[in-house]
Amino acid sequence: MSHHGFCIWLTGLPSAGKTTIAKALVPKLKARGWNVELLDGDEVRKGLSADLGFDRKAREVHAARVTYVAKVLARNGVIPIVALISPYASSRAKARAEIGSFVEVHVTTPIEVCEERDVKGLYKKARAGEIHEMTGVDDPYEAPERPDLTIDTIHFTPDQSATSILDHLERTGWIAAAATVPAPTAR
Ligand SMILES: Nc1ncnc2c1ncn2[C@@H]1O[C@H](COP(=O)(O)OP(=O)(O)OP(=O)(O)O)[C@@H](O)[C@H]1O
Ligand SMILES: [Mg+2]
Repeated sequence: MSHHGFCIWLTGLPSAGKTTIAKALVPKLKARGWNVELLDGDEVRKGLSADLGFDRKAREVHAARVTYVAKVLARNGVIPIVALISPYASSRAKARAEIGSFVEVHVTTPIEVCEERDVKGLYKKARAGEIHEMTGVDDPYEAPERPDLTIDTIHFTPDQSATSILDHLERTGWIAAAATVPAPTAR
């Protein structure tokens, strides 16, 4: 019988570090023998969600599609790592309810820092009024009230953050503890 996977769901503001941390986490889980699939919001928007904009309804549909894919993967033994702004608490609650095996990780980078990073230049455009419906600027971000884990990207590197997720998964029993090298036996 194949084992069941589970979903790691990274939520946070634009430029918080979701994609960066997810990419650092993938090889660490693969090294433990897991099949892993990164479901990145931007990538999904190039295909499955290419028809969607950024209003509330569209963001809900986007999250619902990602939820469905993550559910199908998880029940087939894969660990889907979702990197999605997912600004609405209700969408994340639905994801947890539908997928079941679910670890919500809040990448808590404050808006000032995200805005300084501004990887895609979208904060700048939003402040200039060139784009609208920008999460954190003129669209809401509902921070998780009880995430399974929070990640601080100011004091920790992406690699340290990925390791802290791995540690959390071990502590909470989602993955087995790393095999420890047995102590050499005395002769
Ligand atoms: N400790 C850190 N953890 C994660 N990212 C960091 C950290 N320090 C600096 N960064 C930088 O912050 C940026 C985060 O961008 P990233 O694309 O990962 O954000 P995101 O949350 O996926 O944003 P979006 O929602 O727009 O896709 C990257 O340029 C990354 O190198
Ligand atoms: Mg991203």
